[in-house]
Amino acid sequence: MKELARKFCIAPMMEWTDRHCRFFHRLLTRRALIYTEMITTGAVLHGDRSRLLAHDPAEHPVALQLGGCDPRQLAQCARIAEDFGYDEVNLNIGCPSDRVQEGRFGACLMAEPALVGDCVAAMAAAVKLPVSVKCRIGIDNQDPEEALEALTCAVERAGVAALVVHARKAWLHGLSPRENRGIPPLDYARVCRLKAAHPDLCVVLNGGIANIDQALAHLERVDGVMMGRAAYQEPWRLLAVDPVLFGEPARFASPKAAAEALIPYIERELARGTRLHAVTRHVLGLFRGVPGARAFRRHLATQASKQGAGASTFRVALAFIEDFDARIVAAA
Ligand SMILES: Cc1cc2nc3c(=O)[nH]c(=O)nc-3n(C[C@H](O)[C@H](O)[C@H](O)COP(=O)(O)O)c2cc1C
Repeated sequence: MKELARKFCIAPMMEWTDRHCRFFHRLLTRRALIYTEMITTGAVLHGDRSRLLAHDPAEHPVALQLGGCDPRQLAQCARIAEDFGYDEVNLNIGCPSDRVQEGRFGACLMAEPALVGDCVAAMAAAVKLPVSVKCRIGIDNQDPEEALEALTCAVERAGVAALVVHARKAWLHGLSPRENRGIPPLDYARVCRLKAAHPDLCVVLNGGIANIDQALAHLERVDGVMMGRAAYQEPWRLLAVDPVLFGEPARFASPKAAAEALIPYIERELARGTRLHAVTRHVLGLFRGVPGARAFRRHLATQASKQGAGASTFRVALAFIEDFDARIVAAA
């Protein structure tokens, strides 16, 4: 089995971590393991597969996250993920949305550890790729000590390569998916106890990690961290991942230099018919706090979705940004 570094992961986020976002994030860190949005087994098996699973060779290492609960279909999808060249396949046991609950997958599977074990076993038997799971510490009235332990034992027996734990419960009734990312309290200690009880399992902690210093602190007690909203909303922080967590030089000395490196990609995508906004919407947070950031955002917000907007629109937006050096990396 291929060894993947999971020390720093960028979370799967629907409508956010599409292929443009992932390409952009890869410009900011060589070492992060990047996740796709969740794609359901139904979509992989019956949808426009080549569009849904397309990714750029530069994105590696990249993991495909699947949503589903049928071991046979998940095994089929894992094989397809392998054929498409993904580096890992991940099963979503954390999403609380109504649509996902109706399909009987996502977070509600926290109540069915044996089925999750069957899913992971079927996927692991089908591919050479590592199979990982992303879960919560529990749902509704579950006791997180028991629920997380039962799920962990089931997936460990099934050969899971890593368990990503969003360190809060999901409440399946009465809270929206957004509220379920903020209202149930974070319980990092539960995840650390899990790691202590399963020293051989790769445990990745997720939830509320706001900056790279916090990531570094968590890494004293778990094998990896996964950052979601902070990575997306303040992507400049990702420039600190390689130097601070891996002792390697940052890919670029400044966010502006990283943005300039995105221009050839933008030109390539525009030539394929992609709208400028589809790429640049992921870049809006790159300069938070930097002189010119507001004008950059405003220019893209008003111009990038217009018919005919092109790389020059992005260049004009970038020109608002004052040259800024690597100090920002140190502040991440
Ligand atoms: C817009 C958005 C979409 C998300 N979509 C997914 C998803 O497709 N699969 C998943 O496992 N988690 C999804 N999540 C949850 C994140 O992966 C992560 O667990 C959560 O945001 C907590 O991490 P954070 O506090 O670092 O953001 C999503 C989160 C956001 C903000």
